[in-house]
Amino acid sequence: MGEGRRIRVRVPASTANLGSGFDVLGLALGLYNTIEVEAIAQGVELTVEGEGAERLQKVGERSLVLRAARATFDYLGLTPPGLKIHLKNAIPLKRGLGSSGTACLGGIVAAAELSGRSLSPEEILRLALPLEGHPDNITPSLVGGLTATCLSGAEVKYVKIPIPDAIKVVAVIPEMELGTAEARRALPGQVPLADAVHNVGRAALLVAAMVAGDLSLLDEATRDRLHQPYRAKLIPGMEEVLKAARRAGALAAFLSGAGSTVVALADREAETVGKEMAEVWAESGMRAEVKVLAIEHEGVQLS
Ligand code: HSE
Repeated sequence: MGEGRRIRVRVPASTANLGSGFDVLGLALGLYNTIEVEAIAQGVELTVEGEGAERLQKVGERSLVLRAARATFDYLGLTPPGLKIHLKNAIPLKRGLGSSGTACLGGIVAAAELSGRSLSPEEILRLALPLEGHPDNITPSLVGGLTATCLSGAEVKYVKIPIPDAIKVVAVIPEMELGTAEARRALPGQVPLADAVHNVGRAALLVAAMVAGDLSLLDEATRDRLHQPYRAKLIPGMEEVLKAARRAGALAAFLSGAGSTVVALADREAETVGKEMAEVWAESGMRAEVKVLAIEHEGVQLS
């Protein structure tokens, strides 16, 4: 673990759930945080630029990147050196785009690399899970593309699902932040069986439609009854923005992860779809930024 050696890891954002695939499906996006980690003689130095810089700069020892790196050194049976960490963040915080997952993955992959060890995706997910808790975010960010995940004890079981290249992701990111914990507190402990069946059928249809390349099914396949109706109460204008996306010709539209971003899938006129969604939000006084993003197929990369 030579002092002065610097590792740079690029980790993509993710959008989890895709409507009906609550806590199960996730998609990696072409928007990245970069995590640089260098071994130094002692102590911790943390600097951050970009999204959330001021806030994240202050977290010090509680930095997710640092905790993930330390958990990895522990796992490898190594004594962590001093670490100099620099984050370049392009993913907005608390908007349902998987930014905390990128911090965990960046810390783990950088620490393993600094140690000259290579971890399997299964090992990385096992280390990330207790820190981040959402396999539907961390898995696509790690391996890229669209993934289906489930937990088997502490293990993340996953498979990558083919997704047509023509699909672009329109992320409409409101100024309003929403923490995942708060967005989960809005959910009921129990749901009607009919709602569970509604979602199971559509999540299965969504996976099958992606594999078959049948884009015409995506609107129905992404309709959700398990989380969006409850979270809509926390996100003013969400339902109207979803409708605006469909009116503008989107293939599908849903809340991104726990929110507050709303995402549309589009195979054409993605900019127009985003503009119309943002305009509807603006009418209710919510400013939102539109990002048209490619799907990231590779996941975490050393750069
Ligand atoms: N599936 C999780 C949720 C993702 O919707 O709460 C959290 O980012």
